[in-house]
Amino acid sequence: GVDSLVRVTPAMLKEKNGRKGKPAWSSYQGKVYNISPYLPYHPGGEGELRRAAGKDGTKLFMEVHSWVNWENMMGECMVGIMVSEDHAPV
Ligand code: HEM
Repeated sequence: GVDSLVRVTPAMLKEKNGRKGKPAWSSYQGKVYNISPYLPYHPGGEGELRRAAGKDGTKLFMEVHSWVNWENMMGECMVGIMVSEDHAPV
């Protein structure tokens, strides 16, 4: 539920880049998703999806397949919402 959502700062997102065993998170229109479980299933390949790891994937996503419904497909993988750096959790 909404209570379990993490407030994610840009610095936190950058850390979740999927490298060295870290989870891969990507933001889309201000919402943050754990894309790790979807990596093996992405029709465009794992490497392409990894390009959005640790970043805002909105632009890449829209450039390739604006018709795909990210929110529907990734809804269960939503982990948080983006906040500005000075809203970092204590
Ligand atoms: C293909 C989903 C992120 C690159 C696809 C397809 C789906 C999909 C459903 C098949 C589309 C079709 O056949 O009409 C997603 C979801 C994403 C995501 C849910 C977000 C979590 C990305 C990102 C990239 C990317 C960030 C980076 C550029 C591609 C490419 C193809 C593809 C290159 C396919 C090409 C082909 O048909 O040869 N993706 N995608 N995707 N995706 Fe993604």
